[in-house]
Amino acid sequence: MKLTIDDVRSRFIEHFDGTTGSVYASPGRINLIGEHTDYNDGFVFPGAVQQGMIAELKANGTRNVRAYSIDLKDYVEFSLDDEKGPKASWARYIFGVCREMMALGVPVEGFNTAFAGDVPLGAGMSSSAALESVYAFALNDMFGDNKIDKMTLAKVGQATEHKYLGVNCGIMDQFASVFGKAGNLMRLDCRSGEFEYFPFNPQGYKLVLVNSCVKHELVGSPYNERRLSCERVAAAINKLHPEVKSLRDADWGMLYEVKETVSEEDAKRAKYVIGEKERVLKVCDALEKGDYETVGEMMYATHEGLSKDYEVSCVELDYLNDLAKEAGVTGSRIMGGGFGGCTINLVSEELYDSFVNDVKTKFREKFGKDPIIIDVVIGDGSRKLC
Ligand code: GLA
Repeated sequence: MKLTIDDVRSRFIEHFDGTTGSVYASPGRINLIGEHTDYNDGFVFPGAVQQGMIAELKANGTRNVRAYSIDLKDYVEFSLDDEKGPKASWARYIFGVCREMMALGVPVEGFNTAFAGDVPLGAGMSSSAALESVYAFALNDMFGDNKIDKMTLAKVGQATEHKYLGVNCGIMDQFASVFGKAGNLMRLDCRSGEFEYFPFNPQGYKLVLVNSCVKHELVGSPYNERRLSCERVAAAINKLHPEVKSLRDADWGMLYEVKETVSEEDAKRAKYVIGEKERVLKVCDALEKGDYETVGEMMYATHEGLSKDYEVSCVELDYLNDLAKEAGVTGSRIMGGGFGGCTINLVSEELYDSFVNDVKTKFREKFGKDPIIIDVVIGDGSRKLC
């Protein structure tokens, strides 16, 4: 069910002093291709979805933030001046954003807030980036005269992950949440920050997510280890080719040259990243030509790489990918960080119904639970609702 302003407002009124504040929304995201490339300075191809987080905020005249999570029915109060912040991880996202905005010179004051989301948690659709972005956007509007530019707001969310949650993520999720635009994917160069909107209306095809309902959780996951592997290989290449600053600059020949000096595991990780770099470029070309068969082929190749070389898949996701292949679906792959969550599928309209039914039946037969089907509609980025 779609989350509305009223769902949040009614709880805000009930939970606090009966008055209302300002309401903001930020979405989750999909990513067509370009996975685990953002922290390697590469390209990504995300778009915002219609599902996301909605938060209501009102200044309360103190130095404290009083926060209520409607979904978790959990209440936390923390001081803006506390160094350590709250323990509950959902509240640490809000705390981190407040502290990072303050560090940028925004005179954040205490506020009451309630929030809820309809982007599934742990599905690889960036519910956490939606949470960070909604507060970064709101604080900029309420206390900062909107002086902080949007890319910096995205970086506030990313810094929150790094410093307050311990996830050394790239910029893709927060970027997509802040900059999303209905009907458009975005091709972002994660090194320069340059991006362009890319109208996405694949005639005759649908994008559909299949949530394996295996909870993907980046906090404490081997996500950071994957990043370190990439950095080690880039550093080894850099010794021979000083112009190589990250795997974005590396090619197959360079990887071959350092193969004996890095671990086999690190070399496999780098192999995936260099391959993914090429696939993103091929997909850009194919999209320009409306060649969705090539887009789909690249998606399958990405899945293969994420599963075999990057090793961020799981049996459920591999099974969903196999089912898509068997059904003749144009493209399918793990989406997001991996370790659970969704596959993203590019499905021709005539196959859609049979594919969805097939997936539901077979997944249930094998794993004893229903996968969740989510039709993708590309929505808008962070915004004020009222
Ligand atoms: C997570 C991270 C992103 C990105 C993806 C993988 O969603 O937050 O920065 O690295 O994984 O592409």
